[in-house]
Amino acid sequence: MGFPEDFSWGSATASYQIEGAYQDGGRSMSIWDTFSHTPGKVFQGHTGDVACDHYHRYAEDIKIMKDLGIQSYRFSLAWPRIIPGGTGAREMHGIDFYSRLIDALLDAGIQPTATLYHWDLPQVLQDKGGWANRDIVGWISDYATVAAEEFGDRVANWVTINEPWCVTWLGYFFGVHAPGVKDLDQAIASSHHTALAHAEITRALRAVHPEIRSGISLNMTSYRVDDESNAELLKLRDYQDANLNRWYLDAQIRGEYPANLVEFYGDKLAKVVKPGDMEKLVIDSEFLGINYYSDSFIGTPTKEQVEKNAGSFLFPINSDGTPPAPHTDMGWPITPQGLEDLLVRIHKDWPEIEDIAITENGAAYDDGPDENGQVNDERRVDYLVNHLDSVSRAIDKGVPVKAYYYWSLLDNFEWAEGYVKRFGIVYVNFETLQRIPKLSANVYSKVIATNGSVLESVRKS
Ligand code: FCB
Repeated sequence: MGFPEDFSWGSATASYQIEGAYQDGGRSMSIWDTFSHTPGKVFQGHTGDVACDHYHRYAEDIKIMKDLGIQSYRFSLAWPRIIPGGTGAREMHGIDFYSRLIDALLDAGIQPTATLYHWDLPQVLQDKGGWANRDIVGWISDYATVAAEEFGDRVANWVTINEPWCVTWLGYFFGVHAPGVKDLDQAIASSHHTALAHAEITRALRAVHPEIRSGISLNMTSYRVDDESNAELLKLRDYQDANLNRWYLDAQIRGEYPANLVEFYGDKLAKVVKPGDMEKLVIDSEFLGINYYSDSFIGTPTKEQVEKNAGSFLFPINSDGTPPAPHTDMGWPITPQGLEDLLVRIHKDWPEIEDIAITENGAAYDDGPDENGQVNDERRVDYLVNHLDSVSRAIDKGVPVKAYYYWSLLDNFEWAEGYVKRFGIVYVNFETLQRIPKLSANVYSKVIATNGSVLESVRKS
């Protein structure tokens, strides 16, 4: 019972959130540089210009992981470092940086997991429409080919796209993430192009290295409805579930999109789906990545919520229902049971998936160093322990979870929220860039050393 012997314990980051050095090594501007440099878009005008300066301090960060016993590290490649023009020539400075990073990880006995796209689209490609332009499927496949040629000999596990739902809906509909577009037609186009891109990226990676293992990372949730006898709310739940949980899995596994959304999107979807596309969506990925933070709660939306959601009932970001009270600094409810429920549900609804990695899970709390310089982030320890318990119960029920990556290794640039939302098991002082492993890092280290068996005693103490 519990975690299988070959379970992989990891931690995760993403390029724009930690690297800094935004003009070094021939890197071009990404949509997040543009967005964060635009007044009013990010909390207090924070940017990723310096971030954790991981670009210069990666060796120190790898040493921290090695000391903790972390077995795998999920990071992302910055497209603007590797192909600054978006398409065409490779930038050897950028490629050398990731080569050094990968080699240093392997030397430290840490398995690299590379995410190809974690949101830092080259601005030059957004100038051509970004994810709303169908050509992006070709652009990103070419980038995948380059990445596989340069790193595929040393990186076994690849994440194609991180959270395509966020790319699409936060980026092109709500406009709260880069590129800040608010347009339903563009969002629907992006919904399709991201799904198609996952399949085409996978084919591109395999064409270079047939043995590469790849999958998409989806942000998924368990929905809870305030009143299960309210047919309107159940319908709303089904739309949201189709939009967030089913869209990409039904596409890649069944070659179809959820019927309720196909009907709701109507011509807007029909005009972006070209003949042959539905067949192309189908791909037998080696694993599925799940990013889980909390459940979502559905109740009757208030008038203000409806207005805020651009008049649409269907895609509220903020849950309209009644979540349980305790929440993290993000305002996200703490619902560990939901992770087990989600995993069990995925295994039941898409039994074809034989390998699941939790590619992100974690909590933001603002604990800083005490007078002894220690960061006692007990709330994060609770979050971690309770969610790992939940994963272990799912495994006991037969769900094939093979890996877990805590989000995040380091406190970092939390997108529109800037640096105040701290997700790290390692504290970062953003003035001095000093790193301090928190209590949670030490607990996680023990979890890893005992392959999870310490969880029971940690929880009781
Ligand atoms: C996810 C993102 C990740 C991080 C966490 C908190 O949506 O993939 O980069 O910001 O949320």
